[in-house]
Amino acid sequence: MAIQVWDYRAEYEVERDDVLAAVDQVMRSGRLILGESVASFEKEFAGYCGASHGVGVGSGTDALMLALRALDIQAGDEVITTSNTAIPTVSAIVSAGGTPRFVDIEPDTYLMDATRLEAAITSRTRCIIPVHLFGQCVDMDTVTAIAGRHGIAVLEDCAQSAGATHRGRRAGSMSRVAALSFYPTKILGGYGDGGMVVTSDAALAARLRRLRVYGTDKTYYAEEHGYNSRLDELQAEILRRKLRRIETYIERRRELAGRYDEQLRGSGLTLPQSSRHNRHVYHLYVVRHQARDAIVKALAARDISVGIHYPWPIHRMRAYAYLGYREGSLPAAEKAARAVFSLPMYPSLTTADQDRVCEALLEIVPEVSAA
Ligand SMILES: Cc1ncc(COP(=O)(O)O)c(C=O)c1O
Repeated sequence: MAIQVWDYRAEYEVERDDVLAAVDQVMRSGRLILGESVASFEKEFAGYCGASHGVGVGSGTDALMLALRALDIQAGDEVITTSNTAIPTVSAIVSAGGTPRFVDIEPDTYLMDATRLEAAITSRTRCIIPVHLFGQCVDMDTVTAIAGRHGIAVLEDCAQSAGATHRGRRAGSMSRVAALSFYPTKILGGYGDGGMVVTSDAALAARLRRLRVYGTDKTYYAEEHGYNSRLDELQAEILRRKLRRIETYIERRRELAGRYDEQLRGSGLTLPQSSRHNRHVYHLYVVRHQARDAIVKALAARDISVGIHYPWPIHRMRAYAYLGYREGSLPAAEKAARAVFSLPMYPSLTTADQDRVCEALLEIVPEVSAA
């Protein structure tokens, strides 16, 4: 049997009754858009993240873009993030009218190297987006201190890190505003697209509610240029019910990560490094090896699929070449892109399948290293 890097079907079988009950509840409610389920889920999920307000939107990408709009990012304003992230972190900046600027990553954790921020700040810098990548948080104390000194807003990209903590604080509670994704693979995954902006700033939340519905506060009258980006009732009700199980999902991911750590220690792979200040939620279990491509190929021959997060740093993509970065501009991000790959990781992955992945790697890695 093939082993996928991610698969929702086993989980669905277990949770099917609850998912179908959620669908039925919404279908019978008479309200499909911005009703009770969205309102309740917004409160509950924002509370889980340690924030006062939640605004459900169409995707994590929209959550980032709308948050930047709500922060009044204007054309020419610079927003600092990393190049080793999902494309939407950067596309959201451009969609909001901003100019992305990159700092390099820490080679061990692949996270934003916050000590490089100060040097990247210019008179045009308006926002910093630390990306809590793969399930663990950026060093937010350093980010917050630098941003505070310069009067720059911070927007956490928590798309991969719902439930992660840094020095005991939840992802999404450590900045003025934060963006989360409910894309199916995520820690709290829906059955389609969805996202949320969380904040403890009531005025910002009100602005976001306006921006997600054509810029309107009242029907058919736009106060400002807005969008249509709403989390729908069906996803919200399913996610609301799944939220009650989020700690179980996270614990299982952490357990699987612990098993990988144990079995793959000494394998020749570089295993994920977690800061001692972090509770890592392992959205992805990312390992590194110089012979990555040969290993991935050999795994595929055994019907084991892995992911690569990410094969190209954003600054080396054609879409963002205009930003002026070159090969060598961000060496740690470029180096990671050549060597990382992500092992199967999702709560319903069985330990038997995980053992098969480990056994395969323990055979393959020494072989390719010797070749
Ligand atoms: C780091 C990061 N930011 C933003 C997003 C965007 O989320 P979505 O796919 O819900 O638009 C994703 C997910 O792909 C992500 O991994």
